Amino acid sequence: MVMHAPEGTRDLLPDEALFWEEFKRTAAEVFGRCGYVPLDTPIIEQTELFVRGIGEATDVVGKEMFTAISGANLATLLEGGSIKNKSRLSLRPEGTAGVVRAVVQHDLVPQGAPPAKLMYAGPMFRAERPQRGRQRQFNQVGIECLGTDDPTVDAEAIIMLMRFYATMGMPADAMRLLVNSMGCEACRPAYRDAVRAYMEQHAEGLCEDCHRRMETNPLRAFDCKNEGCAAVMAGAPKITDHLCEDCQAHYGQVKALLDGAGVSYHEDAALVRGLDYYTRTVFEVQVDNGKRSQSAIGGGGRYDKLAEEVGGRPTPGFGFALGYERTMLALQEAGVEFPAARRCDAFVACVDDAARPQAFAVVEQLREAGIKADMDHQHRSLKSQFKLADKLGARSVAVLGPDELAAGVANLRNMATHEERRVALSALAGELAVERSEN
Ligand code: HAM
Repeated sequence: MVMHAPEGTRDLLPDEALFWEEFKRTAAEVFGRCGYVPLDTPIIEQTELFVRGIGEATDVVGKEMFTAISGANLATLLEGGSIKNKSRLSLRPEGTAGVVRAVVQHDLVPQGAPPAKLMYAGPMFRAERPQRGRQRQFNQVGIECLGTDDPTVDAEAIIMLMRFYATMGMPADAMRLLVNSMGCEACRPAYRDAVRAYMEQHAEGLCEDCHRRMETNPLRAFDCKNEGCAAVMAGAPKITDHLCEDCQAHYGQVKALLDGAGVSYHEDAALVRGLDYYTRTVFEVQVDNGKRSQSAIGGGGRYDKLAEEVGGRPTPGFGFALGYERTMLALQEAGVEFPAARRCDAFVACVDDAARPQAFAVVEQLREAGIKADMDHQHRSLKSQFKLADKLGARSVAVLGPDELAAGVANLRNMATHEERRVALSALAGELAVERSEN
């Protein structure tokens, strides 16, 4: 039986894995221009971190985490033996909680220091029902800025994300930027009560999950994928009518900065995002793919209380993450084409087996000189060596046969123009480097 990757996971085959590298490089370049530097945190964290950071009442923590017990003795567990909190580990469903944990643990924002601007990329895990654009293991690229609640950070990050999508070739009219403010601990409790009261009045139209949410965390009902609930929640009180003065001013400044930068956005008072740590600004970039739940290609917001939740001193933060797979689907749907990465610049072909030792030496010299070079390893005919060179994307093929070997030259063919010329083996690396820089 042929074994398959687990449901909801995907192999990134070489062309796509190369593209994922390119995607991360572009993100690092665009985000690096705004001062972001990498931080890598573990893929597993204590379950407690996500429970406290993201919130027990969220779908992500309540239903979708992959959790393991480290060093567990199955027999003890089945007998109902107690499990220490420390040995309960979960695969990270997102990156923010781990980054904030690392910032607190290593004191990356000492008092009076400038904000820490951090970025990360890697796999996240959510036990969701797999669908197109919804996986159980998916890749995110994200940023987090900790140490200031200044609205310039919010606006700068949103602009930076839109710049990244533009750099990747995403047409501006294929995306929609939604923004909202979630308020703060001063104004949100009263808003939450207002939403709960509204839900109680419309309880008959809500699903079982939302009945539970009404008690535990009414704002989560805005995220419910059930259409009946979405219709009820469309008439719910709006957070923007309940913001305190400070939150109103903060939100106003973020919007003014976006306006000043010429970034267009829609205000969506029902945008609450699926994680409980948000305060004030939240935003999401959506594409129209006819599927409400998979339309978000990226999103994030402010989380001014999260550092305290995980045991740190007050350290406001802002961040976002974008989904690699969903962004790629959206780019493909927008008609953006991705040329396969060139795996070889110069291919060295042999007329016969006698030329192979010299070909091997030439390939190694080219590689030493920094050129992507390759040769045939299967004793193919000259014709099929040319086919292989073409498949690998080689710009040039250097042919070595008895005549060339005797003269210390290679017959160099330009694969685009089919021009051929003789080049001394000693000059080959230099010639190929010039060709590469001209293309
Ligand atoms: P999120 O909205 O849960 O935010 O995820 C960010 C992006 O990850 C989504 O917009 C989507 O593109 C992608 N994504 C999420 N779940 C899946 C899935 N099951 N399959 C494929 N792609 C998926 C966060 O994760 C926050 N940590 C963002 C953030 C950073 N907020 C503040 N800082």
